[in-house]
Amino acid sequence: MPASLAIPAASAEEVRVYSGRHYNTDRQVFKAFSDQTGIKVRLLESKGASLVERLRREGSNSKADVILLVDAARINNAAKAGLFAPINSAALKRDVPARYRDPSGRWFGVSRRLRVMVVNSKIVPMSKLKTYADLSKPFLKNKVCLRNRQNVYNQSLVADQIALRGVDATKAWLKGMISNVSQPYFPGDISLVRAVAQGQCGIGIVNHYYVSRMLAGVNGNKDQKLANSVRVFIPDPAHVNISAAAVAKYSKNKNNAIRLVEFLASPKGSALLALPTFEHPVSVNNTSGYVTRFGAFTPDSVTISQLSQYQPMAIRMMAEAGWK
Ligand SMILES: [Fe+2]
Repeated sequence: MPASLAIPAASAEEVRVYSGRHYNTDRQVFKAFSDQTGIKVRLLESKGASLVERLRREGSNSKADVILLVDAARINNAAKAGLFAPINSAALKRDVPARYRDPSGRWFGVSRRLRVMVVNSKIVPMSKLKTYADLSKPFLKNKVCLRNRQNVYNQSLVADQIALRGVDATKAWLKGMISNVSQPYFPGDISLVRAVAQGQCGIGIVNHYYVSRMLAGVNGNKDQKLANSVRVFIPDPAHVNISAAAVAKYSKNKNNAIRLVEFLASPKGSALLALPTFEHPVSVNNTSGYVTRFGAFTPDSVTISQLSQYQPMAIRMMAEAGWK
């Protein structure tokens, strides 16, 4: 579009995005959307939990048009709290596989991430690993590192295991896994990768893209070296989590908001969002060598709605099991 047309369009038309994602590269996708449509994007980034809180507080006065959140349970909980407007869009139904969108059309997956094991193969032999269940086995005594239980990624993993294996098996798994932990609990996935690399522990659970980012040198030379000394094992089947987009219930700008959500979920938009962060786009896999070196993966059968359904139970069970 010529600049002379883009200027009036941009001043007249904009969408406000509240985003709980935290990657600089996301700006590229919003720029591509603006270039393509003349619609300006205003971005407000914040922690997911505080974004949801803010939306609640603002109610019908909210200026938000589009919400971007990471984690299945978080997005679905916000939907259940009535914060999103349902959308009926042929493009979204076509571009987002059914398992990665809300059956009621309130949110749509735009990128995927796997919860994987990061392994120090001098301490834990890769050949002994198969599923998340292994983390509770006696051969990993004092070798497991975990991130603290406040983290939604682990809450969704536990919810996933409840859906997949049932309450009793998950309880036993938690008990065994916690008894295998000898280290303090970690504040983030990256610090956990470092601890595994440095041999403080033999194995931990992290989102795959943190290791990829370290491998690619995003966090500097030191982390790159550390990441090169660990291995990643993708449990089979793998727990897949998403980041997702939704139209805010009180958006004053619904048509443009829908256009942005459609763009984010489209093959082009999803790739612009997911490839630079080493996530997987919503319907194809990331082909970066920093991701493919972990090997192929098979998603498990748990739906995003189930992750949200079992999240409160997961949080309770994690506390009961002594997950710090
Ligand atoms: Fe993350």
